[in-house]
Amino acid sequence: MANRPELTLDPPNWDDVRKTGHQMVDDMIDLMRDIRQQPVWKPIPEDQQHRFDELLPHRPQSLESVYRIFKDNILPYGTGNMHPRFWGWVLGNGSHVSMFAEMLASAMNPNVGLGNQSSVRIEKQVLDWCKQMLNYPKTASGLLVSGASMANLNALLVARNHQTGGSVRRFGTLAQGKQMVLYCSTETHACIQKAAEVMGLGAAAVCKIPVDRNFRIRTDLLEKSIRSDIAGGLLPFCIVGNAGTVNTGAIDPMDELLAISRRFGLWFHVDGAFGALAKNVPEYAHELKALEEADSIAFDFHKWMHISYEAGCVLIRNADAHRLTFEQSPNYLLQHERGISPDIHSSGNYGIELSRGFKALKIWMSLKTHGIFAYSALIRQNIAQATHLAEQISQHPSLELMAPPGLNIVCFRYIDKKRPPSELQYINREILMRLQEKGIAVVSSTIVNGCYALRASICNHRSKKEDFDLLLEHTVQTGDELSALEPVKMFAFTR
Ligand SMILES: Cc1ncc(COP(=O)(O)O)c(C=O)c1O
Repeated sequence: MANRPELTLDPPNWDDVRKTGHQMVDDMIDLMRDIRQQPVWKPIPEDQQHRFDELLPHRPQSLESVYRIFKDNILPYGTGNMHPRFWGWVLGNGSHVSMFAEMLASAMNPNVGLGNQSSVRIEKQVLDWCKQMLNYPKTASGLLVSGASMANLNALLVARNHQTGGSVRRFGTLAQGKQMVLYCSTETHACIQKAAEVMGLGAAAVCKIPVDRNFRIRTDLLEKSIRSDIAGGLLPFCIVGNAGTVNTGAIDPMDELLAISRRFGLWFHVDGAFGALAKNVPEYAHELKALEEADSIAFDFHKWMHISYEAGCVLIRNADAHRLTFEQSPNYLLQHERGISPDIHSSGNYGIELSRGFKALKIWMSLKTHGIFAYSALIRQNIAQATHLAEQISQHPSLELMAPPGLNIVCFRYIDKKRPPSELQYINREILMRLQEKGIAVVSSTIVNGCYALRASICNHRSKKEDFDLLLEHTVQTGDELSALEPVKMFAFTR
């Protein structure tokens, strides 16, 4: 031991690291600046596949050479969501501020689970800003989490614990001796059912209520179900409202859901993964006003605020209910009067995780650099772009709008009156794949009223009007090419 040099991960020469680090910064700035010139997406070439199947590295290699592999073999083959013509699923672009903040947070590397330190204070500050953004009570609690799936789970755990007087924590789900039920529309994101399954309530606990022709929950049917479940000896505990459904961007009638939940003494949770942030857009302020009264809200920063993945948030109106769901005081987390641990496991008392990264910094830096007005203006711009896209689609003889555009989501398809619905489905599937593979644009898909639809979800601060025109031009052109083929040839493409 005495004669051996002591080991460290620090480099022997910091100047080499500095040089490579500066190169990384330069390259990433160039990448963001020039992203429009790149294809939206590229498949990983066959001859690169081995890069993803290497054996565990035993020996060191230089940071510079590892970075070169990243730049040549990893960087070009991402999801493509940095690009101005990426409108698949609900993915934000990211930004230079968020990128730098990730580096700074990582260098500092604090554990936000530990009390008396700046990262905890910055997270608290960000949570306070979230409450201000949504006009939610100052006394509410909250937590930054990886995304809306986790935020929804956190909120539903609190709902369940609170609505059962805390007995679930001690005795588990059997404590009630009754099937607990939560209500949401058939258009609700799958993470709500997953949460119910993970919570041990089972998928049977999720009562999916049909929607109207604008894809909003039918509140008359909701009330009827609650009454009949109570009469049948079940235990309704929560209503989940959608502030922007994932399929079509529909906003459930928040006022009515709030009123129903109050009438029956149920928890009212809002899944506002992307749509909650539209509350700051004047046209939507009224429709989303009832969020202020919700018992809990889940939303994301990595979608419509373009913070780098991952960044989601849950807010809980009743901070005590939140704490009582998760609080523990094990011996190794004792609090002290002074030092680093006066409030040692504060965030652990509000969620599942104990050790947590400094997600708050990228949100804090982005909000300080851009200001909330910039985000509201961009959200408004995306909604206007969705309206423009929908108008273009409705006026085009070869295109069909599949649902009323909601917020920033437009569902549509290529049509050719000569082709039966089954063939249209194949044609549209093929259009989607070709647009992606040619790097022209990325849209995703969904099923609307039983029909396959192309789906553009516009969470993009880089998109311009011309990008949407290009999408439609290539959709129609590709659709015409495919539709000119005999059905047999067409099927050969898609199998
Ligand atoms: C309405 C809605 N809820 C929940 C989620 C899940 O969010 P995340 O992927 O951040 O977990 C999404 C994702 O698109 C969504 O659109």
